[in-house]
Amino acid sequence: MKVGVVGLGYVGLSIAIVFAEQGNTVIGVEVDGEKIEKLRKGIPTMFEPGIKEHLEKALPNLHISSDYSSLSETKFIYVAVPTPTVDGRIDLSHVEQAAISIKAACPQSVIVIKSTVVPGTAKKISRLTGMDVVSNPEFTREGHAIEDTLHPDRIILGAERQELMDELEALLGFSGAPILKASNEDAELIKYASNAYLATKISYANELAKLCEKVGCDIEVVTLGMGLDKRIGPQFLKPGPGWGGSCFPKDTQALVAFAGDNSSRLKIVEAAIDVNNQMVQHAITLIKEIAGGNLSEKRIGVLGIAFKEDTDDTRSSKSIELIERLFREERAQVNVYDPVAKYSGNCTKYESLSECVANSDIVVVATEWDGFRSALREVEKPILDLRRILDLKEYPGIYAIGLGRKGTGGSPMHSKVTS
Ligand SMILES: NC(=O)c1ccc[n+]([C@@H]2O[C@H](COP(=O)([O-])OP(=O)(O)OC[C@H]3O[C@@H](n4cnc5c(N)ncnc54)[C@H](O)[C@@H]3O)[C@@H](O)[C@H]2O)c1
Repeated sequence: MKVGVVGLGYVGLSIAIVFAEQGNTVIGVEVDGEKIEKLRKGIPTMFEPGIKEHLEKALPNLHISSDYSSLSETKFIYVAVPTPTVDGRIDLSHVEQAAISIKAACPQSVIVIKSTVVPGTAKKISRLTGMDVVSNPEFTREGHAIEDTLHPDRIILGAERQELMDELEALLGFSGAPILKASNEDAELIKYASNAYLATKISYANELAKLCEKVGCDIEVVTLGMGLDKRIGPQFLKPGPGWGGSCFPKDTQALVAFAGDNSSRLKIVEAAIDVNNQMVQHAITLIKEIAGGNLSEKRIGVLGIAFKEDTDDTRSSKSIELIERLFREERAQVNVYDPVAKYSGNCTKYESLSECVANSDIVVVATEWDGFRSALREVEKPILDLRRILDLKEYPGIYAIGLGRKGTGGSPMHSKVTS
């Protein structure tokens, strides 16, 4: 099949690569000239494990251009452009702009919206262009983008015409994932409802983590016990400095605003956002406890800049909020290290973790990168483990504290699961 993909960012590039690898002819349209040049040469424009090899394999079937007319005679054109929030509401201007350009170049095609959009958007785009519009929201995780695109848990399709969803099923059938065919609006809301639920689960764990610190419980043990219940499950119960990234913060905000615009309130999602907004302040309080008060002129080494491991994406990263607040509000000197993410704010960036740690008085684990755990084993500095990656019994005598746990290192974690 010949397929179009408009917008070759984290989502668009991943689906374009996977469609091309499946033997489809893929036309990718992108407005960023630098991205186009790099991708044509097989140079990945984002960090994703294995992406270079996948891109090389896909390139013979993947044609990249800035010209929408290259999409002519393409039946399905995916739109994977940004949908940021502006003043707390979704901004659909990129989607609208892409749709107008598609209409001008190939009005007979069908627009498939991959971008995360509020219910009613597909109908709006259909009215704007007079074209058929299918909803096919994306659930991929950065750091697993190719793998998740190849093997999603489920595929959600929404359309007015059943036969369009049946045709798309043939394109997407390679994954073997269950497909739910629904209305455009249901498909659009499923995406938001899922993201808000996952964000809420993390906020719940974070709120419990703060209680654990007060009453002498350990959040890691508590969530381990909770997660063994199949009705709850272990995923997204890990505490941390709060959720960030390009999806949860903007999607929860957009959903709350959308509910408000429709005379509804999602109080649970509002509370999850509120809890999330307090987590960096909580981290600063813990760092101050370690420092014995004032952080002025203390050297704080923040490990991890990206919003999570295995990605270079720093959008709405809690780590960056922490770095900036330590510098601006606490007048600390901030050192940072991340294996792939870049940041040039108010901090000193180190190329090696050991150098960053050596030049810091207190070390903060802000991102769960593989490798941090073993690298920190030899470190004899106070550590605040915001991601709970360290087994604190391995740090006898070192002042290491974990989020959601009272006290310092040295006391063995005595809870384990036996089968
Ligand atoms: N990043 C994720 O993990 C993820 C997961 C699920 C859903 N989503 C959703 O997918 C959408 C895209 O997210 P992303 O992270 O891939 O964004 P991104 O910013 O990484 O990529 C978007 C790309 O679209 C290009 N673009 C913008 N306007 C264009 C236009 N008119 N024509 C052609 N190209 C255009 C940009 O240059 C950019 O390369 C958003 O709605 C997001 O909420 C993202």
